Formats: sequence, C-alpha cells, structure tokens
Amino acid sequence: MSHNGRPSPRGGHTMTFDEAVTLVRAARTPGDLFGDGQDAVTYRRMARLLHPDAAPAGRTATATAVFALLADLWARHQGRGGPGLRTRRHQYMIGERFATGDLANLYRVRYDNRDALLKLPRQPAQNDLLEREAVALDTLRRLGDPQHRAYAPELVESFRHEDPDTGVRRTANVLAHSPGLVPLTEVRRAYPGGLDPRDAAWIWRRLLVALGWAHRAGVVHGAVLPEHVLIEPEQHGVVLVDWCYSVGGDGGSVPALVARYRDWYPPEVGRRGPATPATDIHLASRCVDWLIGSRADAALTRFIRGCTLANPRRRPQDAWRLLGELDELLERRYGPRRFRRLLLPPTPA
Ligand SMILES: Nc1ncnc2c1ncn2[C@@H]1O[C@H](COP(=O)(O)OP(=O)(O)OP(=O)(O)O)[C@@H](O)[C@H]1O
Ligand SMILES: [Mg+2]
Repeated sequence: MSHNGRPSPRGGHTMTFDEAVTLVRAARTPGDLFGDGQDAVTYRRMARLLHPDAAPAGRTATATAVFALLADLWARHQGRGGPGLRTRRHQYMIGERFATGDLANLYRVRYDNRDALLKLPRQPAQNDLLEREAVALDTLRRLGDPQHRAYAPELVESFRHEDPDTGVRRTANVLAHSPGLVPLTEVRRAYPGGLDPRDAAWIWRRLLVALGWAHRAGVVHGAVLPEHVLIEPEQHGVVLVDWCYSVGGDGGSVPALVARYRDWYPPEVGRRGPATPATDIHLASRCVDWLIGSRADAALTRFIRGCTLANPRRRPQDAWRLLGELDELLERRYGPRRFRRLLLPPTPA
C-alpha cells in the first residue's frame, strides 16, 4: 500500500536512503511496511540501505536509529502468532498476564503506542460469553449516551483467535486499559472494618449512573460484583467491567453465575427468570452493603434492604430515579455533598 503518495517499500524504483528513513519512521505497525508476500525481500532491501556501515556521509547516527526501528518492526512482524498477534485491524505486542478472571485470562498488549488488555477464555466453550461481552459493549457505544461512555471499557476489537499449535478457536476481546483502576475487592481490603458511608457514597452514586446509562441502552450487566466494579480514587471514577454475563433488552436471563458469589445474586438469577434493571440494582446494593459493613446506620440499612428485596418487582426499577432518592437520603444525613479524598495503599500501574 502506498501512503498518500509517499514512497512505498514495494515500489519499483530504486529507493533512496532518505526515502527508507521516511518510510520506517512513518510506520506505526509492521503492516505498514510488510505484508505483501515479499516481506523478506523488502526487509533485506531496506536493511541494506539503512545499515550504519553503508550510510551516506554524516548520516551514521540517523542510520543507526532507523535501522534499530526497522529491526524492531521486522521482529514484531515475524513474531506473529508468537509474542505478537496480528489481526486485520491491529498488530499487538503481547506482554505479561494481567489478571486471571473466572473464565478468561487477561494479557497486557500494546498496539499503536496504546495499552490494552487481551481477554481470552481458557475454554473455547466460553466463547459465547466473550461474544456477549462484545455485543454489549458495542450496544453501549451505539445506543448509550456518549457522555457516560467512560463507565464501561472501550472495546478495541473482538476477533477469532486460532491457536497455531492446536487449531483451537477462541473469541478474543481487546479492551482499552486505563491504569490506576482499583477493584472494590482492594477497597474492602484497605478498609476491613467497613468504609465510611461518605466515601462509599460517591462509589454508589457513580455505580448508579453506570447502571442508569446501561439500562437506558437496553443492557443489563448481570454480574455487578466487587471484582467488576473498578474505581479511580483520585478522580472519583467508576468503570464497570466484565460484560460477559450481560443481557440485552429481550427479557433473557443471566447466562451464568460467578460461583464464588452465589449467595449475592437475587433469586431470579438462580431460577433463570428474566434479568431486569432491578437485578443489577440488587447486586450493586449488595456490593455497597459489603463495603460499608457495620458502619451503615439505620436509614442506610433500610435503603439497602429495599434494594435487595427478594421479589424483583418490589425493588426499585430505575437506577436514575434511585440515584435521586439516594441523594436525598445522603443530604438529609450528611448535608451538602463535599469532595472527600479516598486513601488507598499505592497499587502498581
Ligand atoms: N478494562 C479493564 N481495566 C482494568 N482492569 C480490568 C479491565 N477488565 C478487567 N479488569 C480486571 O481483570 C479482572 C478479570 O477480568 P474479567 O472479569 O473481565 O474476566 P473474567 O472474569 O475471566 O471474565 P469471564 O468470567 O466473564 O469470562 C477483573 O475482575 C478486573 O479486576
Ligand atoms: Mg470477571
């Protein structure tokens, strides 16, 4: 592919040193230089031109730097299926394992100078759950109010990954990764005696915004659990992750339970009844209840009880409306809202 009239590595004419420098510097991924079946020829031609020993007078430093870039692009290109992974859209450098989830492994990846997470199910039998996640994130992008997009991770792409050795096909999701997010499990670890309700208040409020936003787009999350609620303590941000258990607005049921949290779910999940916004409201309220622990007063305890009633029709149905009610309760109890810094032990980026 020729880049907007710029020289091409595959061009018929004899490439100059300067053209080779420009091309390599402009290449963001190996696919910008290689990929036409003549890769080794292209690489050798450019390597000869850019080799520091062959550089034009006074250009040795440039040649040295650009030759290193070329070598890196070539290594990444060759690493397809090994440490690198190439899809139709992106070339990923795969880093270390980031997390071991319930059904999937997450790996740090880099593409175009961006950080992301590659999520691969350990068993191909779970491919449909990964597909669910991709559909949900896509729906939120298309139908959700863009103002609240940051409440769910951005789906970079979803693709079929074929293991080069075994031929096993897995659905892979690549999710944008922003550093500094902390799951509620960490918050609880930092405050084993219970979090001050005034600190839990912003988490709860943001969580209700996330749910109100998703529900308006017709998506029920289905697994609002401590590992899936990530917070950004400085900015008071909340990101809801793992949309594998989500249900579209079709009256379907939550497809699977996270077994460790069996007791947390409302009864409709266990009996495979329809998942509704009230299902998420129940789970979110359980999370908050668990965070605050014994520090909840009578009014808060009553509020949470109302959100976790067994009968889904008796629970609040609308996260936005519930947010208004929560704000009233908080104001009555604590006065006007004020920013409170939440202190947590430092976490690696
Ligand atoms: N976009 C993200 N940014 C930061 N951390 C994340 C992100 N996505 C997931 N995580 C962390 O990685 C953990 C595992 O991810 P996730 O829950 O999506 O996988 P999983 O539980 O294996 O998925 P499933 O069981 O649905 O297949 C999460 O609990 C969360 O702490
Ligand atoms: Mg999970």
